[in-house]
Amino acid sequence: MKHTTIDDCRIVDLRKISDPRGNLTPIESGADVPFDIKRIYYLYDVPGGESRGAHAHKELYQLIVAANGSFTVTLDDGTNKKAFTLNRSYYGLLVVPGIWRDLDDFSSGAVLLCLASEHYDAADYIRDYDDFLKYKNNDTSII
Ligand code: TYD
Repeated sequence: MKHTTIDDCRIVDLRKISDPRGNLTPIESGADVPFDIKRIYYLYDVPGGESRGAHAHKELYQLIVAANGSFTVTLDDGTNKKAFTLNRSYYGLLVVPGIWRDLDDFSSGAVLLCLASEHYDAADYIRDYDDFLKYKNNDTSII
């Protein structure tokens, strides 16, 4: 999945079932996300000014949702970058493999919900930006 670009990533409009008792957004594998969901994690209690992410994945697909609050996801394919501010619980950001992501500007109380296509695998991460650029440029001496 080396040759993906930020144009392969997109905002997914999730269903919003409005109700005076409180709104509800369902997410189903295959219907709302184009992968089978094998893992869910959420990021919360992020101190003001902190950043997360700063890595890419080789095979993992993710849907990132601001379940509460807001934050910015900056995607980078090694050539182009695009920033998405997520601030609604009914929008997801589909991030395909081979894309570097930086997460910052977390609001107070922000909760980042992530649906992932694979179980956790440390070997799927690229954590060094120079290694990422080499990976995208097909330098097989690195990865
Ligand atoms: P990581 O994905 O590296 O977060 P970030 O890039 O924002 O720093 O995860 C941080 C730690 O949590 C890391 O030690 C691995 C662990 N972790 C799991 O054990 N399971 C998971 O599903 C995730 C996402 C992380």
